[in-house]
Amino acid sequence: MPISRRNFLARAGQAGGFSAAFLLMQSLGLIEAAELRPLDVAPGIGKGVSVAILGGGIAGLVAAYEMRELGYACTILEARSRSGGRNWTVRGGDTVEFIDGSRQLCSWDAGNYQNFGPARLPSVHTAILGYCRKLGVPLEVEVNTSRSTFLENDAANGGRPVVQRQVINDARGHVSELLAKCIRQGDLDQDLSPDDRTRMLDFLRHYGPLDAAGAYVGSDRAGYSKLPGAGNDVGVLNKPIDMHTLLDENFWGGILFEEAFDMQATMFQPVGGMDRIPYAFARALGQTVQYNAIVTAIRKSGNGVRIAYTHAGQARQLDADYCLCSLPLNLLRNIPNDFSAPYREVIAACEYAAAYKIAWESRRFWEQDYNIYGGLEYVSQGCNPVWLPSGGMFSERGVLVSGYGWGAFTDLPLDQKFAESRRTIERLHPGHGKELQKPMYVGWGLVPFNQGSWIQAFSSSERGLDAPPGPGYETMIQPDGPIYFIGDYASRLNAWQEGAALSAQRAVQLVSDRVRAQRA
Ligand code: ALA
Repeated sequence: MPISRRNFLARAGQAGGFSAAFLLMQSLGLIEAAELRPLDVAPGIGKGVSVAILGGGIAGLVAAYEMRELGYACTILEARSRSGGRNWTVRGGDTVEFIDGSRQLCSWDAGNYQNFGPARLPSVHTAILGYCRKLGVPLEVEVNTSRSTFLENDAANGGRPVVQRQVINDARGHVSELLAKCIRQGDLDQDLSPDDRTRMLDFLRHYGPLDAAGAYVGSDRAGYSKLPGAGNDVGVLNKPIDMHTLLDENFWGGILFEEAFDMQATMFQPVGGMDRIPYAFARALGQTVQYNAIVTAIRKSGNGVRIAYTHAGQARQLDADYCLCSLPLNLLRNIPNDFSAPYREVIAACEYAAAYKIAWESRRFWEQDYNIYGGLEYVSQGCNPVWLPSGGMFSERGVLVSGYGWGAFTDLPLDQKFAESRRTIERLHPGHGKELQKPMYVGWGLVPFNQGSWIQAFSSSERGLDAPPGPGYETMIQPDGPIYFIGDYASRLNAWQEGAALSAQRAVQLVSDRVRAQRA
C-alpha cells in the first residue's frame, strides 16, 4: 500500500514520539525552527553603499540590522521619539495622543501594560521569533485560546454565558451522534466500505464520545456543574446544550478562531510588553536610528535618493544610494515624492483599516473567581473579543481588552465606547463590569504617523485582512528605481510583524543582488 507523507509522519511519531516526528519534519523542510534563515549575500557586500531607511518599525529595524551586518551605511529616520511603529506598548505614566488633539493619560499600576498594536507571536513566525532569540528578548506563552473562557449569546441559553469547553464538546458530541445514525441507517453506504463503516462508528464512539447505543449524553470534556472531590464527593456533569442552541452562529463563531493557522497554540509574547522587541533592535542599532526625524520629501537624485526631513524643527536632508521606505502608504500619498506613476496610483487608491483596542485595569476576577487564565471570550453583541492577559498571572490586578475590532464603532464618542465595552464584560461576567477601571482606547486611525492599522485593500474593490493582494501589490513589491517599499503590506502576512520582517529581509537581498550585479 502506498504511504502518504502524512501517514508516514504519523507513524514516525508513534514509533519515536513527538521529537522523532518533529526532527523528521524539520529535515523534510516541513517546518522551520525559530532560526533566522541566512540571506544569500556575500559578507561585506554593502561596504561603500549608503541606505536611507524611512520608518523605525519592525520592517525598518530588521532592514537596518541586516544591512549593517553586511557593511551598508544605514540611517533610519523615525518620526517618533521611540522605535517600533505600531508595535506600541502603553503603561502607567504614558500618554496616548490622537491627531484630533485628544489625550488620555494612562495610570495603570507598575507592571501592567497593554500591547495596543501586535500582541501575539505565532510559533510558525520563525523570522520574528528568530530575532527575539538572537537579540535575547525573553518570551513567555501567550494564551490565545482557553477552553475555560466564556461565550454569551443574548438569544440563546436565556442570555446566560457558557464555558467554551462545553460549546466545543457538546457540538462535537451532537455531530458525532448524527453521523453515527446516518451510517447505521445505511445513508452513507455508497461512500464508505463495510470495513470503514465499522471503523468510522468506532472512531465516533471515541470522538463524540457516544454511549453504547450511539447517543451523546454528555461528557466530562464539556465540564462539570459540580467538580469531583475526595471520598464520596462525586462530580456532576454539565447537562449538554441542545443542538438547536449550538447552531446559532453567534455561539460557534468564536470557537473556530483557534483553528486559524496563525492563531494556534503555542503562541508567544515578550515578557513585559511587545515593545521589548523594537527596543532590543534599537539598542543593537544605536546611532543608526535618528528619532524625531519627520520625512518631508522623497526625491530621486542622480543614481540615488535625497530625503528631506525635519529634526527638532530644523530642515535637513539625507543623500543615499538606496532608500527602503516603510512609511504607511496612506501617509506616503501626502509626502512630496518622485515615485513613478504606477506607484503613485496604487498609493493613492489603497485603503487602510482603523483597528482599535479598549483596555481596562481590574482585579483579576476572571482568574480569582472563574479560574480563567488567558484566552478570548465572545458575546453575540458588543465589544468582541474580550482578550484576557497572559502576563502576570496570579497577581492581584491585570489589564484586559474588551473590544478589539474595526468599523463603525470607531465613530462613537469615547464615553459610549467605554460604556459598551463595560457592558460586554457585564454580559459575560455579570456583576463584574463595575470592577473595570482606568480605560484606555487606542484607535489606530487617529494615531499620529499611522492613521491606520494595516492595509485593507490595494484598491477599493478588495476588502478584508485575508483578501488576495491584487495588482497593486505586484507593483509595490518591485523597486521604483533606487526605492524599495517594505512593511507587512509587502508580504503575504499582512498585519503581522513576521510579514514586516520578511519584507525587509527580501529587500536586503534584492539590493545586495543589485550591488553585486553592478560590481560584476
Ligand atoms: N495579526 C493581527 C492579530 O493578531 C491582526 O490580531
